[in-house]
Amino acid sequence: MAGAAAALPQLLSEALAQGDAEPRRYGRARLVGPDGAPLKSKAIPVGQNLIFHYPFAGTPCFLLDLGRPTRPRARLRTTAARAYEWHGGTGASGGVVAYSAICAHKLTYPTREISFISYRAEKTPGSRFARVIHCCSEHSQYDPADGGRVLAGPAPQPLAAILLDYDRAADELYAVGTLGGEMFADFFAKYALRLALEHGGRAHAAVEGACEVKPLGDYCRQQVKC
Ligand code: FES
Repeated sequence: MAGAAAALPQLLSEALAQGDAEPRRYGRARLVGPDGAPLKSKAIPVGQNLIFHYPFAGTPCFLLDLGRPTRPRARLRTTAARAYEWHGGTGASGGVVAYSAICAHKLTYPTREISFISYRAEKTPGSRFARVIHCCSEHSQYDPADGGRVLAGPAPQPLAAILLDYDRAADELYAVGTLGGEMFADFFAKYALRLALEHGGRAHAAVEGACEVKPLGDYCRQQVKC
């Protein structure tokens, strides 16, 4: 009996480790422009970094139109070896994607002052890849056309994807949840003081109804390129 009792936690942990990472639903929030009008997917500039905050007021995300087809299905794994499947881009072009802008390595993220992480359409001295989300802190690079898969650097898992619902008739987008290894608990713990200052104590507030999308350059004073 003692052996069976001792084995149970291991079996449970193995089952969890081999299980799928389920999509996580949060509030449904329409993506809107700085004027409050719904953002049309056809109006998203190709290859430009747009930023919005979701599913919490303090958690930044990138919205990108890659201007090319994405991989229709990507099989990925979290740090805890939980598998999940990303189902490609959306919007009128099929190339609209969204990801958490919190680096999966040590949680670098874009602040109002500076951003070390962003999408790069071109190769750079620090990256042999074009069209990647590149974190200049330790050069993790992620493929936004392949579910945020890690192409290079120390990141142990893909960027968490933001799930988008696309209303084709209206050409409008809604953020509805996340997929993959979201790191919000660690993020809030690591940056508690800074987030309190940046967001006036509302960093943990759930985003519902609408979330404002704007160019990264309008949000952030300085973008570090590497
Ligand atoms: S925090 Fe992004 S690579 Fe280290």
